[in-house]
Amino acid sequence: MDYAKLYTTSVACTLVWGQRITDLESFWFKDFNELMDVWIEAEEPGANPPIDEFPILKYFPGKWKKRADKCRDMMDEMWDKARAIIDERRAKGIKRDCFIDTKLDEYAEKGWPMSQHAFNNLFGELLEAGADTTANQILTLILALAKYPEIQQKARKEIDAVCDASRSPQFAIDFDQMPYINCIVKEGMRWRPTASGGLPHLCTEDYWYDGMLIPKGTITFVGVWAIHHDEKLYPDHEKFDPDRYLGHPKLAGEYAASPDYNNRDHFGYGAGRRICPGMHLAERNMWRIVAKLLWAFELSEPVDPISGNVIPLDVQAYNSAILLRPLPYKVTVKPRSPDHLKSVQGELASAMKFMSQWE
Ligand code: HEM
Repeated sequence: MDYAKLYTTSVACTLVWGQRITDLESFWFKDFNELMDVWIEAEEPGANPPIDEFPILKYFPGKWKKRADKCRDMMDEMWDKARAIIDERRAKGIKRDCFIDTKLDEYAEKGWPMSQHAFNNLFGELLEAGADTTANQILTLILALAKYPEIQQKARKEIDAVCDASRSPQFAIDFDQMPYINCIVKEGMRWRPTASGGLPHLCTEDYWYDGMLIPKGTITFVGVWAIHHDEKLYPDHEKFDPDRYLGHPKLAGEYAASPDYNNRDHFGYGAGRRICPGMHLAERNMWRIVAKLLWAFELSEPVDPISGNVIPLDVQAYNSAILLRPLPYKVTVKPRSPDHLKSVQGELASAMKFMSQWE
């Protein structure tokens, strides 16, 4: 469970902060996770009084306020420290191929459009938004694949037709030849959307929808879970069935940007102008993980070592936080062949060499 998160945190951290993370004990992983735990608790639906509806409530003391203050202080501390690490690195003349170095160079030349505090927290937000979300979806996908081996078999037919044991699938060259992998990723987003309640949006003007007035100032949510489990929209909605996406071969960004809004694949990344800007990265991350895992390994439900009985995975066992995540579970992971394993080790060595520039 931790390594799914280490992977997604490291990918986002490399791109945004120019720092690869390899260690569960490092500042970039451990401190960040402690912050996320407090953040998730503070944001849990129902955890705070409804101050948006009744602003007077914010003048009353309460545990929820202390928790929110603590979360803010931890965020400020985390991202100020992260920025100090980058400044120290740059002071030694080291610049890396990443978002923060690009922006620091740009603002040093053109001037700052925001405060240092806002800047540090903005870069922090990219990690807060990108790490847990993608890891949760990956954990959902591993759970579903181990539970439903027939889906693995179907995917492997497609994978094996393109990649023999000598190389693993690559997004850049294999995406079009492996449409079923894209279907699996989409079905995970629909079946167990991690942002199941969406994020709140504020109506900036009076708006009429279907004969109903939504007054200015109203807070609205896209009811992601309700839409994804609407029997009319997604028949047999509780079934994990990637086939329902065979008619949607493109990535989520293309459906989200299309004027044909009735043909959306799902709403797991939200909707409208504030839709998730990280979906392009998340989609590619998930595709890679599913394609490479299925190419290299067989996943199955765990077996009790004493009784020899299969321990069935529970596809309903999820947390109840603002970001939906499977509760800890176990799966059996077996390499498909010694040749696959050899290729994994070879590809690992070249990946390590490439990634060393961000360490
Ligand atoms: C499977 C993975 C992900 C899921 C399910 C997800 C989901 C979401 C959702 C539902 C929203 C709210 C959209 C709305 O208000 O309508 C959002 C916003 C956002 N996401 Fe993601 N996200 C994922 C990955 C990422 C990644 C990898 C990044 C960046 C590294 C990212 C960055 C952001 C940011 C910055 C926002 C705020 C956008 C704004 O308010 O304008 N997300 N995401």
